[in-house]
Amino acid sequence: MIDNKKEKVLYERETIKKRVGELGKELGKNYKGKDLVVVSLLKGSFVFTADLTREMDIPLEVDFMTTASYGNSEISSGDVKILQDIRSDIEGKDVLIVDDIIDTGHTIVRVIDHLKEKKPNSIKVCVMLDKPSRRQIDISPDYVGYEIPDVFIVGYGLNYGKYYRNTPYIFTFE
Ligand code: IMP
Ligand code: MG
Repeated sequence: MIDNKKEKVLYERETIKKRVGELGKELGKNYKGKDLVVVSLLKGSFVFTADLTREMDIPLEVDFMTTASYGNSEISSGDVKILQDIRSDIEGKDVLIVDDIIDTGHTIVRVIDHLKEKKPNSIKVCVMLDKPSRRQIDISPDYVGYEIPDVFIVGYGLNYGKYYRNTPYIFTFE
């Protein structure tokens, strides 16, 4: 509890584990025999990436990118900056961008455009949560854990202020 706000759990730890297991198996099948680089967007996706990649029974590379959008930190503006780039060479490889949540779509589109310049063979997107009603750019992720309505989400990598990224379940404040 924070600021007298009560937590409402949307997805329990065990529920998440099952869903991430399904996604990981599907990805493992689809990327079998490919030269896969998982690009995890920090900070939000560190928990999801760790769980997801461990459900993928194939060789893969993991790299990280940090982005930031100017203005209000909870709401992405169109101006997404890349604070830290990947270090791997992705030319000719298959890239899977992993993020915690897709909201307006600005972050993912900026990252796709940036990675395209490095000439990968393919780029696909996997997010744990999708808020399609909030989209400002036409982009649909290829793999989605759960589609959710327009509510502010916390836990499982997602922050409220500086905290809650380590909360093992997904919740909202009532
Ligand atoms: P987008 O660029 O608007 O798609 O926003 C993506 C980023 O905004 C995510 O990676 C999160 O860091 C943040 N974000 C969007 N919605 C939420 C939320 O409900 N809770 C916490 N962070 C969020
Ligand atoms: Mg984020």
